[in-house]
Amino acid sequence: MSYIRSTAFEETGYVVLDRHDQAADPKEWLDLEYVDWKSSGQTRFAPLASAFGEMECDGFWNHSPARTDKDGVWVAANVEKAPVLKARAEEPGANIGRCRVIELQPNDYANALYNLHQDDNNRLNPDGTGWIVRGFFNLSDDPESYLILREDRFDPETEVRIPLPAGAQVIVDTQRFWHAVWQKGPEPRYCLITSWESGPELDAYIERHHGDPHSPSAPLDPAFVESAQADVRRRLAERAATISARSRPGAAIEPDDSDD
Ligand SMILES: [Fe+2]
Repeated sequence: MSYIRSTAFEETGYVVLDRHDQAADPKEWLDLEYVDWKSSGQTRFAPLASAFGEMECDGFWNHSPARTDKDGVWVAANVEKAPVLKARAEEPGANIGRCRVIELQPNDYANALYNLHQDDNNRLNPDGTGWIVRGFFNLSDDPESYLILREDRFDPETEVRIPLPAGAQVIVDTQRFWHAVWQKGPEPRYCLITSWESGPELDAYIERHHGDPHSPSAPLDPAFVESAQADVRRRLAERAATISARSRPGAAIEPDDSDD
């Protein structure tokens, strides 16, 4: 047995869909209730679907009974303020797990690289069912900001930078990619993030919206990239030294808990 995966992700692991007309939507995300939830960077989250419909963001496997990231329950207090966001999450017709709006405060490129992480989307996901991927619908207008994807965490050559103007729609296998967002600001970024189960419904949705697995990566000065990479190496080395000094052998050298 193996997981059901979208052929759209076979080649590159991500697709960029047609832009959504974000200007035509009300700014529902500004009315939502946000909870503090540490992710990659300085963040808060407004849960739209959670494990049991509560106003919280924890992985479904951290609840009792523990289960995988599917069959999310709508959070009434938030979805009643955001019918458009709910409808957009439901449009593919695929099973939805976690669904929430992230608020990310501005950061810089080196910080984004430091925060690169892989999502834990498929814990407890039964073999033979659909692989969980994530949709990122940018709500705020951040054309100079990028969703950064790397196949290899420490290899800038594998980096793809996807610009995030209002209405940008990207679906990513975020368990495969190291990823984080470089939000230039000065305002925070808002994005609807939805866990979807791969299958024929999601395939049809990607096709309908012309999912492009070869969307061009935004250019960036290689010297700037190398300088940031060196900064990350230094920070990780310092962190490793700190952990070592605390005599915690075997402690993972990873950025802070990251789950957006
Ligand atoms: Fe993530």
